[in-house]
Amino acid sequence: MPYTSLYNQSIEQPEAFWAKQAEQIDWFEAPTNILSKNEQGFYRWFKDGKLNTCHLALDYHVANGRGNQTALIYDSPVTKTIQHITYQQLLQLTARFAGALQNLGIQKGHTVVIYMPMIPQTVIAMLACARLGAIHSVVFGGFAPHELAIRIDDAQPKIVISASCGIEGDKVLAYKPLLDEALTLSNHKPEHTIIYQRDMLIADMQTPRDIDFQQLLNYSKPTNCTPLDATDPLYILYTSGTTGKPKGVVRDNGGHAVALHFSLKHIYNVQAGDVFWAASDVGWVVGHSYIVYAPLIMGCTTILYEGKPVKTPDAGAFWRVIEQHQVKVLFTAPTAFRAIRKEDPEGLLTQKYQLSSLKYLFLAGERCDPSTYYWANNLLKIPVIDHWWQTESGWPMVANMMGIEPMPIKAGSSTKPVCGYKIDILSEDGDVLIANQTGYVGIKLPLPPGCLPTLWNDDERFQQSYLSHFEGYYLTGDGGYIDDDGYIFIMGRDDVINVAGHRLSTGEMEELVASHTAVAECAVVGVADELRGQVPVGLVVLKDGITTPEQQIETELVQLIRQKIGAVAVFKRAIVVKRLPKTRSGKILRKIIRLIADGTPYQIPSTIDDPTVLTEIHDALRS
Ligand code: COA
Ligand code: AMP
Repeated sequence: MPYTSLYNQSIEQPEAFWAKQAEQIDWFEAPTNILSKNEQGFYRWFKDGKLNTCHLALDYHVANGRGNQTALIYDSPVTKTIQHITYQQLLQLTARFAGALQNLGIQKGHTVVIYMPMIPQTVIAMLACARLGAIHSVVFGGFAPHELAIRIDDAQPKIVISASCGIEGDKVLAYKPLLDEALTLSNHKPEHTIIYQRDMLIADMQTPRDIDFQQLLNYSKPTNCTPLDATDPLYILYTSGTTGKPKGVVRDNGGHAVALHFSLKHIYNVQAGDVFWAASDVGWVVGHSYIVYAPLIMGCTTILYEGKPVKTPDAGAFWRVIEQHQVKVLFTAPTAFRAIRKEDPEGLLTQKYQLSSLKYLFLAGERCDPSTYYWANNLLKIPVIDHWWQTESGWPMVANMMGIEPMPIKAGSSTKPVCGYKIDILSEDGDVLIANQTGYVGIKLPLPPGCLPTLWNDDERFQQSYLSHFEGYYLTGDGGYIDDDGYIFIMGRDDVINVAGHRLSTGEMEELVASHTAVAECAVVGVADELRGQVPVGLVVLKDGITTPEQQIETELVQLIRQKIGAVAVFKRAIVVKRLPKTRSGKILRKIIRLIADGTPYQIPSTIDDPTVLTEIHDALRS
């Protein structure tokens, strides 16, 4: 069916549209109430449906003849391991681990934090929680103890599941000491931690708190899926907001399963049995949706890749995986392709491999810059699809829907709204802007299934952050415009930046920089970076009377961010300036700083207090 008619149906008759899509998954009790509002006035999908996401991902396929198909390929160049796990095996392991969690008192509604690297035990832990109706919250392994502690305090887990170490290229990173430190920092103390001991580093265990993952699994009995309401939470995933306190994005079970199933078929053009590879990390939403849940719900083979696009061992790593596992769809961040291009500008390493299985390359996490698009497209000669979404949506909001009707690609645009998303560009006053005018990207309510129903324990922040700006709209936080052909171009934002595909808050970095005793005030902005897309740069104004050399202050600030947020922040510059550009009412003009740093032409805002400061900022950034 052509895109336009399916899209129009989804917008004009959302209930009928999603009721039909809901028939594609195996409910315990099919929903009759398709769309409703809860007591807070927030929309909820499939309220009276009953299901279990782990059942959809595993039991259903085993019961329907897929038991011997590979569900998960663990491909780890850093440990030289390739392991195929069938649906039957993954079900057995998951059901036993769920039994183990149950014995430790975990039930429906309890929270479990998972702080783990890219190993099959992470997927087993997630699915085991889903099986019980326990709400998992996976924390990206690159985050420092301070960040982990914040999430532990907010999620209040009964159990934290972790591993002895992660491996980053040639570095073995001990996770257990980071977890121990986080648990010292956090106010909330979980009853137990379960640690998967990896051969390359055995962690010290503290009895009775720490329990060995493998031993627990060895001695446990399998348990069945708990029937859940469609609206019960499946997971919480913390994401960066404008302040230091991350937002706990909640995902429900029913809407999520229906939306992911729909997306694999209609956006990615994938069927059961296909090999789908999202080269991301389970700590991010891409990993949740497209390494774990969507491919398994669809009956695909998914790849869990513990490696990098380059240096594990070279810039041909992706091509090797594609050939070896016959990957049909690769999904990654543009930064990964920029890393490959940097090491192998002509893409010569592709010639060593047979890549005919690969039909599509999907890119997200940041805007795909036209030069990366053309490079990938010329090299692979397949559709290269930039698509736009965010942790909050859980699945793509704008894409070129390959499973319906491929459309001509415009470099720099993520194409058109996905079914279910009515997107408008809004002015400051909430008026809908006409074609080619840049404004706030808003989505008309109700959001389709799969999008966040609220923030964890914080309905008020959900309302304030997303729903209160424009009546009847969800505010995505991104800026952008729609061209004459209806193509959507997403432009940047200043409060949240994407560093090598990792979403980080400049507001949080500012809070940390401002906590340094020498700093009077500061601004942190994301500036363009050839490899990582953006990197943060700090401008700091020192308190009067500070005599510490500027170089030392910069070193201390760089260390502070690395220690508090993690190396992933790639915060390497903190430039001392005399003053910051501000409006007459005292608001820091961050956008101007970013534009100056990027060398992009800008107009001096009429609200600026003193335009002469801009020359100083220019000189400081260029020095
Ligand atoms: N655990 C611990 N540390 C991590 C980490 C993790 N999971 N991920 C990154 N880090 C560390 C790195 O080791 C590095 O530390 P260092 O400063 O001590 O060297 C630092 O964080 C910065 O990492 P990164 O920006 O990833 O740089 P890199 O040089 O290691 O790799 C890329 C650059 C582009 C190859 C890599 O970022 C990449 O593959 N990105 C794709 C991202 C992606 O898939 N995003 C998901 C959204 S789709
Ligand atoms: P995350 O929540 O980590 O997925 O990050 C979401 C944010 O990344 C979005 O709100 C955008 O700012 C940015 N982003 C993700 N994908 C794209 C894309 N294809 N084009 C432009 N920006 C993107």
